[in-house]
Amino acid sequence: MNIFTFKTEEDFVQTGANLIASLVQSKPNAILGLATGSSPIGIYTRLAEMNKKGLVSFSQVSAYNLDEYVGISGDHSQSYKTFMKENLFNHIDIDLQNTHIPNANAEDLEAECKAYDLALEQNGPVDIQILGIGSNGHIGFNEPDDHLYGGTHVIDLMEETLEANARFFASLDEVPKQAITMGVASIMKARQIILLARGAGKAEAVKAALQGPITTQCPASLLQCHPNVIVLLDEEAGSLL
Ligand code: F6R
Repeated sequence: MNIFTFKTEEDFVQTGANLIASLVQSKPNAILGLATGSSPIGIYTRLAEMNKKGLVSFSQVSAYNLDEYVGISGDHSQSYKTFMKENLFNHIDIDLQNTHIPNANAEDLEAECKAYDLALEQNGPVDIQILGIGSNGHIGFNEPDDHLYGGTHVIDLMEETLEANARFFASLDEVPKQAITMGVASIMKARQIILLARGAGKAEAVKAALQGPITTQCPASLLQCHPNVIVLLDEEAGSLL
């Protein structure tokens, strides 16, 4: 595991963008595993700038997102489908047909989860998986529990996750209570994982994930078992290491 702690947002963003861009430059049909949330936004913006300058093309890239809320439509302003379009897909030359986000409005969610895993199995492995980390140690929406699921599944979001996500909704009541998420085994199949964390609110989760015991109570701690993880932190997120 390679851990980098950055003094400036600029260095954090440019390093993350460079890691993805250099993969895509050398492997134009790379498969990216993408996350939503605040952590990757600056990196996505930088990738869009690099794409506009002609430094990198996503025309042959495929993307698989980690998760999507259940209970809101894909065109809801807070759906992860909308997030990805607004923060990345609409600003790069990726073919939208090659972008994949679990369909949380499918009639049969179980079948949708199976189909998502099958697509990952047939088209994968993911070359670079981008991950954020919840302040409770979740990755994707794999919440701390006695038991974690390997494959894509429907999950009840924890109260603290609902509270953390309430900032994007008019009220806590409007935050979807469930999500579809890739499971920990699907995440761990990626060839390389880039874990992103910024801010003091992530410091304890980062310490538990990187230096604590490997436990389902901190799903991000499973990353200690992955052979190729790069961790990009700001000084606050890395302050307890
Ligand atoms: C988002 C996701 C979540 C977030 C995590 C951190 O697709 O899977 O695990 O990465 O909640 O969110 P931010 O980056 O907003 O702190």
